[in-house]
Amino acid sequence: MIIGVPKEIKNNENRVAVTPAGVSELSNNGHKVYVQASAGVGSAFSDEDYVSAGATMLPTIEEVYAIAEMIVKVKEPIEPEYNLIKPGQLVFTYFHFASHEPLTHAMMKSGATCLAYETVEKPDRSLPLLIPMSEVAGRMSVQEGAKYLEKPMGGRGILLGGVPGVRPASVVILGGGIVGTQAAKMAAGLGARVTIMDVSIPRLRQLDDIMPANVDTVYSNEYNIREAIRKADLIIGAVLIPGGKAPHLITRDMLKTIPAGAVMVDVAVDQGGCFETTKPTTHADPTYVIDGIIHYTVANMPGAVPYTSTLALTNATLPYAIQLANKGWQKACMESRELRHGLNIIDGKVVYKGVSEAFGLAYTPVEDFLK
Ligand SMILES: NC(=O)c1ccc[n+]([C@@H]2O[C@H](COP(=O)([O-])OP(=O)(O)OC[C@H]3O[C@@H](n4cnc5c(N)ncnc54)[C@H](O)[C@@H]3O)[C@@H](O)[C@H]2O)c1
Repeated sequence: MIIGVPKEIKNNENRVAVTPAGVSELSNNGHKVYVQASAGVGSAFSDEDYVSAGATMLPTIEEVYAIAEMIVKVKEPIEPEYNLIKPGQLVFTYFHFASHEPLTHAMMKSGATCLAYETVEKPDRSLPLLIPMSEVAGRMSVQEGAKYLEKPMGGRGILLGGVPGVRPASVVILGGGIVGTQAAKMAAGLGARVTIMDVSIPRLRQLDDIMPANVDTVYSNEYNIREAIRKADLIIGAVLIPGGKAPHLITRDMLKTIPAGAVMVDVAVDQGGCFETTKPTTHADPTYVIDGIIHYTVANMPGAVPYTSTLALTNATLPYAIQLANKGWQKACMESRELRHGLNIIDGKVVYKGVSEAFGLAYTPVEDFLK
C-alpha cells in the first residue's frame, strides 16, 4: 500500500504520526511510505533519518495527500486539508467528530474512509490509541496547573505541595480514568491534597486501593462537585463519555464559588469540555480568565512535549497501521473488532452511533460496508 505521512499543520503541533522506526517496519512489510519534508523535525527526526529508514520525502502536503492510499496523521484534518482528502482514501488519525460538526460534514463530503484513533476499542472497552496521549495529558495537566497557580502567571500564588507548617494545595480531579489517574499520581507525588471524583464505583474502589493516603475518592454528582470545588486551588476536567460530548460538570454559575485565582485545566476540551465555560485554546495562547478563574483548555496538550508524545503514540498506532496496510481496511476491519470500532465515516455515511447522535445525522451500520 502507498502510505502518506503529512506534516501536522495545527498550531504548535510538533508530533508526527510515523517515526523512522515505523517507516522501516512498514517498508519491511512491503509498503511504500511517503513523508512530507520536515514532518519529523519537531519530534527530533530529520529527513535523513526517514530516508535511511526507507521513506521517500515529498516537498509539499498536496503531494503527500495526492499519492497516498492511506494517510496516517496525528490531529484531525483542519480546513486547509479538507479538500486534499480524496474519495476512497483511508485517513487514520484522531478526529473527535462528536465535538466538531464542520469537520464531520467535511469528511462526509470528502468520500474518504475515516478511521478514528480515539474510537478503536479493545474487547475490555479500553481505548488503546487514547491511552498513551491521555497518560501524557494527565501528567502534564498538573505541571501546567502548578505553573498557572504561580502569581506571576496570574494564579493564586500557592505551591502545590505547600511546605512544613503550610497546607498544600487542594486539587480536584473530575474523572478517574487514564487522565485522572495520571494527574492524581503527579499531584499526590508533589504533595497536594487530591480529591478524585468518578461515577464508576468499581473505578473509585480501584483508585482507593492504589492511590497514596493524600488522595480521596468521592462519587461524582452535582452536590459533591459543588462541595469539592469550594476550596479547590486546581481543578482538572478528565471525564469521557466514549464517542459522545463531555457533560458540563462545572457550570458558569459555579465559578463564583471557586476561590479567585484558582486554575481549571479542562483536558476533556477535545470532547467539548466538562466545564460550561470551556473553549478550546492553543499552546500559543493557552489560558483565559472568567470570573477570576484561570482556564487552561489546550486541545492538543501532548503537542507541547512532542518527543515523549510521538514515541508514546506511535508505539500504540503502528501495529494497527501495519494491519490496515497489509490487509486493506475492509479485510482488516472484518477480522479485527478493535479496528472496526474505529470506523466513523465511510463514503459519506456516518457509521459511528455517537457521531450520528451528536448531530442528528443518519446512522449506517458499519457492517453494510464490510460484506
Ligand atoms: N486535551 C488533550 O490534549 C487531551 C489528551 C488526551 C486525552 N484527552 C481527553 O481527556 C478526556 C479523558 O480521557 P481518559 O483517557 O482519561 O478517559 P477514560 O475513559 O479513561 O476516563 C474517563 C472517566 O470519566 C468518568 N466519568 C464519566 N462521566 C463522569 C462524570 N459525570 N463525573 C465524573 N467522572 C465521569 C468515567 O467513569 C471514566 O472513569 C477525554 O475527553 C480525552 O479525549 C485530551
